[in-house]
Amino acid sequence: MSTMTSRGADVRAEHSLYGPGHSARRVTIRDLSQAKAAGQVWPMLTAYDAITARIFDDLGVPVLLVGDSAATVVYGYDNTVAITVDDLLPLVRAVVRGSSRAMVVADMPFGSYQSGPSAALTNAARFLKEGGAHAVKLEGGRRITEQVRALVESGIPVMGHIGLTPQSVLALGGYRVQGRGDAGAALIDDAVALQDAGAFALVLEVIPPDLAARITETVSIPTIGIGAGNCTDAQVNVWQDLTGLTPGTPPKFVKRYGDLNSLIAQAARSWCDDVVTRAYPGEEHTYS
Ligand code: KIV
Repeated sequence: MSTMTSRGADVRAEHSLYGPGHSARRVTIRDLSQAKAAGQVWPMLTAYDAITARIFDDLGVPVLLVGDSAATVVYGYDNTVAITVDDLLPLVRAVVRGSSRAMVVADMPFGSYQSGPSAALTNAARFLKEGGAHAVKLEGGRRITEQVRALVESGIPVMGHIGLTPQSVLALGGYRVQGRGDAGAALIDDAVALQDAGAFALVLEVIPPDLAARITETVSIPTIGIGAGNCTDAQVNVWQDLTGLTPGTPPKFVKRYGDLNSLIAQAARSWCDDVVTRAYPGEEHTYS
């Protein structure tokens, strides 16, 4: 497998966090904090099963997110509202089993933490104890800082998520850019409040790039952008989006690096055609 980028160089050698051949131990929140201090940008990818987790882990992706985006890309729902802790737990276990170095972050689904610190603690503990996750992610700003503080004080690393928070899609009236104009100040306050509550990193989703840059300068914890421009400390993507497996027109922030949808369809079609014409299995695929 080639490790070269489209720019013709293996850029991983220059990074202490991203790339193979680094420490065999799991990445920690301390490593992420040091990367911010050193000005090193890192990638985070979603993963929902052991095989893709292994691929990304072998590449040296330092953080794998078992996103509640599993609701759409794994379970076939229209949005992320319906997915539950019980739906996500087996995927978290699979990603932990498939990886050996990446920090695995479990997304807390809608309804598992909004009611207060006690529910948040019960459900986050399940992701750590039953799933083997190393951290959890919660959507929301100042309205969930009590929950964040309770988890952090109990020893659970928490990643925040502000801007476009897909679990609130019904209240937001669609997947729209957040934080434009005067609304930007509120997002900066949310970011600071989450940092003060103990969050170790912050996802910034679909906000103007200058606002993302301002939040990144304001907080000392790493910011992870998705549709938030090029000035955050890290970037995250849903792997099915960047590899072209997700059907349809992707959001503007998605850059397609492959066309897995066509590749899988072509391979499956060739196999089906071979079956019905008895071209498969051939002698070489048959036991004597
Ligand atoms: O669920 C998810 O995949 C996410 C990322 C897109 C940040 O929350």
